[in-house]
Amino acid sequence: MDKRWWKEAVVYQIYPRSFMDSNGDGIGDLKGITSRLDYLKYLGIDVIWLSPVYQSPNDDNGYDISDYQAIMDEFGSMEDFDEMLSEAHKRGIRIVMDLVVNHTSDEHKWFVESRKSKENPYRDYYIWREGKESGKAPNNWGACFGGSAWEYDKETEMYYLHMFSKKQPDLNWDNPKVRQEVFDMMTWWCEKGIDGFRMDVISMISKTKEMPDGEVHDFYGDANPYCVNGPNVHAYLQEMNEKVLSKYDIMTVGETPGVTTELAKQYAGENGHELNMVFQFEHVESDGKYGKWTDEKVSLIRLKKTMSRWQTELYGKAWNSLFWDNHDQPRAVSRFGDDRPGYREVSAKMLATCLHMMQGTPYIYQGEELGMTNYPFQNMEEFRDIESINAYNEWCGSGLLSHQIFWPCLAGKSRDNARTPVQWDDSENAGFSTGTPWIAVNPNYKEINAKAETADTGSVFHYYKKLIALRKQNPVIVYGKYELLLEDSEELFVYTRALDEKKLLVVCSFSDEEEKFTIPDEFIGASCIISNRDNVYGSGRIALQPYEAFVLMKE
Ligand code: GLC
Ligand code: CA
Repeated sequence: MDKRWWKEAVVYQIYPRSFMDSNGDGIGDLKGITSRLDYLKYLGIDVIWLSPVYQSPNDDNGYDISDYQAIMDEFGSMEDFDEMLSEAHKRGIRIVMDLVVNHTSDEHKWFVESRKSKENPYRDYYIWREGKESGKAPNNWGACFGGSAWEYDKETEMYYLHMFSKKQPDLNWDNPKVRQEVFDMMTWWCEKGIDGFRMDVISMISKTKEMPDGEVHDFYGDANPYCVNGPNVHAYLQEMNEKVLSKYDIMTVGETPGVTTELAKQYAGENGHELNMVFQFEHVESDGKYGKWTDEKVSLIRLKKTMSRWQTELYGKAWNSLFWDNHDQPRAVSRFGDDRPGYREVSAKMLATCLHMMQGTPYIYQGEELGMTNYPFQNMEEFRDIESINAYNEWCGSGLLSHQIFWPCLAGKSRDNARTPVQWDDSENAGFSTGTPWIAVNPNYKEINAKAETADTGSVFHYYKKLIALRKQNPVIVYGKYELLLEDSEELFVYTRALDEKKLLVVCSFSDEEEKFTIPDEFIGASCIISNRDNVYGSGRIALQPYEAFVLMKE
């Protein structure tokens, strides 16, 4: 397995709108990020993944881009960007940009032109189809944010495809001009000195030529078999690699919904023809009761099976990302841990141990290092996210589900849980803004905030800091071989990592009760490199406290 800097790095994701507001308008911005680089340096991370900062009408908070080479007014200017980049570099922190090129905003100049006439030079930049018969979309596909995936445009009396909102028309990657435009834009950013790209829904850029109706689930037909891992996706990524990526020492991560371990070997194989790593969702997908919406906890057995399969099948062949949450997921501690008082900190540390001792590049989502929790939503007015609002209207508005049934599913899984402002201190608005934040601050900020946690060496923050440092000191964490133990335990997640003479034993209890565990003979006398409880791990059978986690290292 080749050694690479991006395999050894720890990434921190910033969702700029909610990170730090520097000018009191209630919206996080670039100057705000620059002002907190020392905090990130202290935490010890190597790379920032910056969610989109480009010009955007914000139908989907920046994931709908109207100009790829300009900064969103609310976030600042290109000068602010350059300053942030150079200040990050001074601290040895790299910046990876979000690249959203499956679609643009409908306000992007390409689309403004495209919709004008069938003869327009930009017409073929997007995916246009005739309706079936008057008033009917070309097929039954549903969009990820609800409704049909087709929008009728009266100017030319045709429909365009949008896999997300109708303000996010899909680009036509089969058009070589589109690919060249994207590659030129990427080159422009690379020349500016950025350090890589996180590629938004990159597994969706190639669609099948035929677009038949999909199997109907819930409301609409399933487009995935025709749009995810499509026929030319690998050819296009290889072309991108050849024309852009291979020319720079950058990190590339593909957000690849629907990827399998087999396909990951193509997207992110050791041979390096496409991307460095995939960012896949199998372990965070639950069998939603209603589409992705559910209030059920994922079973630990299932979680272990999925994560272990990715660990073993990619070993030596491809590279994966490690994460519990991001801007599209609920907060890790609320979902996989236990956010009740008395359990929150210890379970947040346990989850961190479980993830950070695995193989792959770890991603920390802003606030996760503080053990930030889900937001206690009370009513629909508190939501900002287009996906959450549309889902409520679709499921409850149609009368299919009652408010009472759908509410816990929505409140528990909404992306807005991750988007409340970072809790910096116990002052008003958690120190995020002196104005009115664009989305409510979690009321628990007086207790959970960066100021308190950086001052307390027993905090979740300091635990993350230690995990990051351990990865730097111990190549076995990066390159060691993984093996799952106690496969059938419904409470304990236990595995080993081995590289040359070194071996790690990682023990994590997902239980809120005491659990018994026997230290395997080969680890008797091994040293404990990290633990979230004051326990001694000598030998024999031990009693694990709720959510206890520890790592033993044998030299
Ligand atoms: C990705 C992003 C998500 C966005 C969607 C459409 O999944 O992570 O936030 O809404 O793509 O761009
Ligand atoms: Ca601001």
